[in-house]
Amino acid sequence: MSSGNSIESVLHETRSFPPSAEFSAQANIKSQEEYQQMWQRAKDDPAGFWGDMAENLDWFKKYDSVLEGDMPETKWFSGGKLNASYQCLDRHLDSWRKNKAAIIWEGEPGDVRVLRYQDLYREVCKFANVLKSLGVETGDRVTLYMPMIPELAIAMLACARIGAPHSIIFGGFSSEAIADRNNDAQAKVVVTADGGWRRGKVVPLKANVDGSLDKSPSVQKVVVVRRTGCDVDMVPDRDYWWHDLAEKASPDCDPVELDSEHPLYILYTSGSTGKPKGVLHTTAGYMLGTTMTSKWVFDLKEDDTYWCTADIGWVTGHSYIVYGPLSNGATTLMYEGAPNWPDEGRFWEIVEKYQVNIFYTAPTAIRAFIKWGDDWPAKSDLSSLRLLGTVGEPISPDAWMWYHKTIGQERCPIVDTWWQTETGGIMLSPLPGVTATKPGSCTTPLPGVVPDIVTEEGESLGDNQGGLLVMKQPWPHMLRTLYGDHDRFLDVYFSKIDGCYFAGDGARRDEDGCYWIMGRVDDVINVAGHRLSTMEVESALGAHSAVAEAAVVGFPHEIKGEGICCFVTLKTADGTDELKKELIAHVRTQIGAIATPDQIRFAAAVPKTRSGKIMRRLLRDIAAGKESVGDTTTLEDYSVLASLRAEDG
Ligand code: PRX
Repeated sequence: MSSGNSIESVLHETRSFPPSAEFSAQANIKSQEEYQQMWQRAKDDPAGFWGDMAENLDWFKKYDSVLEGDMPETKWFSGGKLNASYQCLDRHLDSWRKNKAAIIWEGEPGDVRVLRYQDLYREVCKFANVLKSLGVETGDRVTLYMPMIPELAIAMLACARIGAPHSIIFGGFSSEAIADRNNDAQAKVVVTADGGWRRGKVVPLKANVDGSLDKSPSVQKVVVVRRTGCDVDMVPDRDYWWHDLAEKASPDCDPVELDSEHPLYILYTSGSTGKPKGVLHTTAGYMLGTTMTSKWVFDLKEDDTYWCTADIGWVTGHSYIVYGPLSNGATTLMYEGAPNWPDEGRFWEIVEKYQVNIFYTAPTAIRAFIKWGDDWPAKSDLSSLRLLGTVGEPISPDAWMWYHKTIGQERCPIVDTWWQTETGGIMLSPLPGVTATKPGSCTTPLPGVVPDIVTEEGESLGDNQGGLLVMKQPWPHMLRTLYGDHDRFLDVYFSKIDGCYFAGDGARRDEDGCYWIMGRVDDVINVAGHRLSTMEVESALGAHSAVAEAAVVGFPHEIKGEGICCFVTLKTADGTDELKKELIAHVRTQIGAIATPDQIRFAAAVPKTRSGKIMRRLLRDIAAGKESVGDTTTLEDYSVLASLRAEDG
């Protein structure tokens, strides 16, 4: 935050790209009037609006009321009964879609699998029966720590079918991180694979799970998919091969009729303290949100091939590879591996090979594509593309223009979608047939989303004044709690600005009502589109015997957006290069490869205010190589600053 009440915004971008008449004519939402009318109705009469939208779901029992209560304690569709796997599978089987491709999957080595809706249905039923046979009951939590293979989507939908909330842990997390999450969720079963392919190498997933189990006493059984054929230890009566169990399982499994507010999943995300937050989403609201936003924002059509490049380990994959697209009966493409394997043209070959129409990726990937050069996309025919999307961090106008010209060939609208693990689905985004897009802006709120920009005191700010982004009205797909810690839920999101959901981002709204996200205002950094708490890395470093204290900040990084810079004071040891390497390895063991520090800087002390708070703003300036211009009069020890600058990582 800057001085005064508002945040200073420096970006001034005036280019604007309205959709073509052809695109608008075929779009699911066609005109500004249509959008305005939907948005106004959802604001004035949320129950009426979302009640109408709920016709898009299949209900075993219709709800008694659409919305009860107000933020933060809301209940959506009380009295209703439904099942998320039924939305994604069964309801498509009575139509021609039964033989439509639900998932087109390509493994990194080039192997391909296509699961039609019927195939996916059978596999999901079988695995739901497997889970039941292992003692999983409705309400039990199941951890999924898997590569990007169809079994991950199958396991998710199988959990949903029996009402066992899944907790997916991204494959880049370490054994320690798996144990923390298993314990917090009290998971009963873990589903994993022997390994997954990444840049031609095997990521040892089962071995990582093994390393977590002596610290995860709640886990009783482990199911292992054979993916890479690498050696794994299988413990009798605890570890089972997926194929052994699924082979014997029945392909029929009735979906459990679940309450609207039945938990669908927990997904851990970083907050501004060391302990990850278990964001909990529930069935009806989440399914409605992901179903409608997929239709509106990605303009899904029956014959589209849709590809979201995220990993299902993050919320983007939950909402926009699995639940949203499948609920709409779409064809969703899944790719297992790295974008530069065997070479930097891989993504574009996939686009051409499957004639991908809608492509959704992250700014960090776009920056990598730019660096790799235009020759790679030029080798493939990208003419099938009709719509592009981005998510995860602010996109610079330059990267946006490159995406527009080189990938979209100036033909495809770009939807820059702002949302969060907590929001469950897209909140601010262009509608591709309606909105004039602006490079770097996520533009306007979707129907049902009522944002504002406010001061720390909660006063609304005017046009082009930077402030805090809040939501003033509840929406169906918002998180309901942090698993096992409702007080933290209330504190983090609802105590800062009275009556509002506090997103943790700074933003401004321009004179056209378009939103420009300026980044996090808390101690969360965004590394390659992944949220990481600086405190999480600090506590990992603090657990090393040589470390007296650590202060961690982000700094601008060409590809990752933000890199991780750690200022470390040692107890007694010398600050050698060996120790730097050891500390980097230590953070990887404690959290995982995604938290690998880019810089370790040894320091005599870290600068603190008189009240003992680490002066992160100063450290950020030092990490970025900028001379600090801020007010340092509250610094505890001036000499510390000079020595920190001298240490060049
Ligand atoms: O800071 C915002 C940034 O990512 C944060 C949410 O991270 P996560 O929960 O991991 O979810 C990422 C995928 C939904 C936000 O608080 N962010 C996300 N999308 C955008 C963005 N920043 C700018 N523009 C976006 N389109």
